[in-house]
Amino acid sequence: MSRLDSVIRRLMAQRACIDRAVELIGDAPGSVLEIGLGNGRTFDHLREKMPDRVIHVFERQVAAHPDCIPDDDHLFLGEVVDTLPQAADRLGREAILIHSDISTPFQEINERILAVQAAVLPKLMRPGAILLADQDIPVEGMADLPLPDGVKPGRYFFKQMK
Ligand SMILES: C[S@@+](CC[C@H](N)C(=O)[O-])C[C@H]1O[C@@H](n2cnc3c(N)ncnc32)[C@H](O)[C@@H]1O
Repeated sequence: MSRLDSVIRRLMAQRACIDRAVELIGDAPGSVLEIGLGNGRTFDHLREKMPDRVIHVFERQVAAHPDCIPDDDHLFLGEVVDTLPQAADRLGREAILIHSDISTPFQEINERILAVQAAVLPKLMRPGAILLADQDIPVEGMADLPLPDGVKPGRYFFKQMK
């Protein structure tokens, strides 16, 4: 598969998973956490699909499209291993959807971030919350959900808090 094919499939998987998650949460109360703003593509999709939800974003250095930058009150700026615990203290268990797209090419860094996410995300999620991620975050107490049609296993991870 060419790198172009791979990028296209990853973006289609992201969109399919986000759209499915939006359907699943329906009108359930709660906010959204976007971990890894990047250029703001998925943030923009999340806010377009859920215009009435509060979305908090985590990013170490903002370099997004100017139209896709959250305001300061909704941005946790800095290393996610520091800002996630800060968010848990400030927000508590209010998220109904978390989308994490933050993996790096470096396994050691990824493992550290995964360990922090596994420990802290349960302190941010409501019962029934959905976790979508580009990596398999080993959060206890979550059930794997089937991926949307056309999304290859391992490309995205889709879980729900029991
Ligand atoms: C793949 S991009 C996210 C792309 C985004 N989903 C989009 O659609 O545009 C990953 C982002 O995570 C951020 N990031 C990576 N490691 C981080 C860390 N340890 N703490 C905070 N942000 C981090 C990077 O700066 C980058 O902007």
